[in-house]
Amino acid sequence: MNKFTYSNPTTIYFGEGQIAALAEAIPQHAKVLVLYGGGSIKTNGVYDQVAKALSNHNWGEFSGIEPNPQYDTLMQAVAKIQNEGYDFLLAVGGGSVVDGTKFIAAAARFEKGDPWTILSAHAPVNQALPLGCVLTLPATGSENNAGSVVSRGQDKLAFMSPLVRPAFAVLDPQTTLSLSPTQVANGVIDAYVHILEQYLTYPVNAKVQDRFAEGLLMTLIEEGPKALATPDDLDVRANVMWSATQALNGLIGSGVPQDWATHMIGHELTGHFGIDHARTLSIVMPAIMKHCRADKHDKLLQYGARVFGITEGDEQSRIDATIAATEAFFKTMGVPTRLSDVNLDTNAIDVITEGLKAHGMTHLGEHGTITPEVAAQILHLAR
Ligand code: NZQ
Ligand code: ZN
Repeated sequence: MNKFTYSNPTTIYFGEGQIAALAEAIPQHAKVLVLYGGGSIKTNGVYDQVAKALSNHNWGEFSGIEPNPQYDTLMQAVAKIQNEGYDFLLAVGGGSVVDGTKFIAAAARFEKGDPWTILSAHAPVNQALPLGCVLTLPATGSENNAGSVVSRGQDKLAFMSPLVRPAFAVLDPQTTLSLSPTQVANGVIDAYVHILEQYLTYPVNAKVQDRFAEGLLMTLIEEGPKALATPDDLDVRANVMWSATQALNGLIGSGVPQDWATHMIGHELTGHFGIDHARTLSIVMPAIMKHCRADKHDKLLQYGARVFGITEGDEQSRIDATIAATEAFFKTMGVPTRLSDVNLDTNAIDVITEGLKAHGMTHLGEHGTITPEVAAQILHLAR
């Protein structure tokens, strides 16, 4: 196992009715800005629960943070904060609202020029407003991590800072009942691929991380299809929600090699072609598994045996069966697994590789060997 430092101070309020905990979780004297997206929280009752919990707080609101949150929108919130003097941010929504709020928290306290450089040039984040969140879409893990992804036109870029890790996250599975089947499927797949990107590399004898990861994968394989088939089942929603949080809160990724190539290539697919985040991952991941089968050989065999029970046959046929089982699970969830499924042809591949070069994504994968040229070969396997 590799050396690591792990700190995860986000307080989790999990379960039905936990939105009420906002009344105590947010400092009494804070001036709170509630940030949300396009309005789903107004129709599913979440906004009303938040308003009730904040009835003794001084608060305002900012709406309109879009999926794949846009820099220009977020900077409008920064201006509002600076004009009206908010000192605590509450994100209410999916990963985009949480990510957008994290960027706003950093940008509102950024003193060294254009806040875009936090994303484009890794400008250090030295201060940020405190924030908490009410999560309504289990997927990204953003509610319990220090990462944020922000878009500006075709540029989709990430930053990380412990200063934007939410102080708390309210996870009430009831809030997820209003998700469309597409959003449910996207969330399950995003979480699944987060786990694979921290697991499917090479063994470092990290038994706890491996078995936690395998348990989460098996939970999503079991519960994901149920979330589509029996959408009112709150137990299913709870298990999906907690899996998605655990998938990317740093625990299973501590002390192990990681491979975020699927995400980085996927971000280019979203930036240039507007494909939902999770649906880029379901297209790219099987192709990465195929192309990198030698590098990932041992973990592919372990994943196949422990998660899918694939133990018969020679090693290469077990790896083939494992990749096929992964694709079959993705198909069960109704997400695409080929570029052609989203009406993209080989012309898209050049656009993606140019995007990777422009964003400095030139040495991806656990060994840093996925250059833009290799990414093109991978994408050819995803046609
Ligand atoms: O805007 P509203 O009206 O709220 O509608 C949203 C949005 O249209 C809707 N929605 C959310 N909760 C709902 C709901 N609709 C009905 N009922 C509910 N309970 O769902 C739509 C999509 O929301 P969005 O927040 O965009 O989805 P998601 O949570 O998948 O977030 C995706 C973003 O997170 C980034 C992605 O790149 C993408 O920009 N990621 C962030 C990560 C992180 N911070 O660690 C890691 C991830 O890999 C990912 O990259
Ligand atoms: Zn993701």
